Amino acid sequence: MRIRALQKKDINAASKVFGEHTYPWEEKSSKSYFRVSLDSKIRNPVYHCLKYWVAEEKGKVVGVVGIHSCKECVKDVYWLGYIAVKKEFQGDGLGTRLYEKAEGEARKRGGRLFCLFTSGEEEQGGSVKFYKKQGFKVAGRIPDVYEEGDDQIYMFKRLK
Ligand SMILES: CC(C)(COP(=O)(O)OP(=O)(O)OC[C@H]1O[C@@H](n2cnc3c(N)ncnc32)[C@H](O)[C@@H]1OP(=O)(O)O)[C@@H](O)C(=O)NCCC(=O)NCCS
Repeated sequence: MRIRALQKKDINAASKVFGEHTYPWEEKSSKSYFRVSLDSKIRNPVYHCLKYWVAEEKGKVVGVVGIHSCKECVKDVYWLGYIAVKKEFQGDGLGTRLYEKAEGEARKRGGRLFCLFTSGEEEQGGSVKFYKKQGFKVAGRIPDVYEEGDDQIYMFKRLK
């Protein structure tokens, strides 16, 4: 298993790994997001950092992770982007390896805070537990963002 930078040829596979777990519209938005993240020519002015990696096993993409930091936001605050591991590869430390790649990059770039948001549905035995294991704390929530009763949970980790 190796973790390497996302390339153009990975876009469909990477968004499928993520799309496997979530709403269909997310797969569409992740595709355009991934495209910007790897095309240095696009140089989206919104980001000073947008980077994605994939985990590859026998030529197949089985995991994905990314970070971004927005020019309009505070420069040393980094956000965890999509993170997902194909179901049959979960529970074996790959999510942690991918996460560490992302956090390592944020640290290398002088990141002070690492933040993320996720669905309130993830609080019940979902990825919130995984994020807490990586050292994140819950900062707060916005009610009913995804749908009535499904809040958006904000989490953060201090890197400095
Ligand atoms: C979250 C995710 C990336 C973790 O990947 P993984 O390869 O299973 O993670 P790891 O094997 O490194 O797990 C590390 C620890 O977190 C725990 N953990 C991981 N995913 C978990 C989940 N969904 N619920 C509860 N605990 C979880 C593991 O049990 C493990 O605990 P341990 O160290 O006590 O054994 C993976 O579950 C996933 O792809 N989930 C679906 C997509 C998703 O929800 N992404 C986040 C959207 S915001």
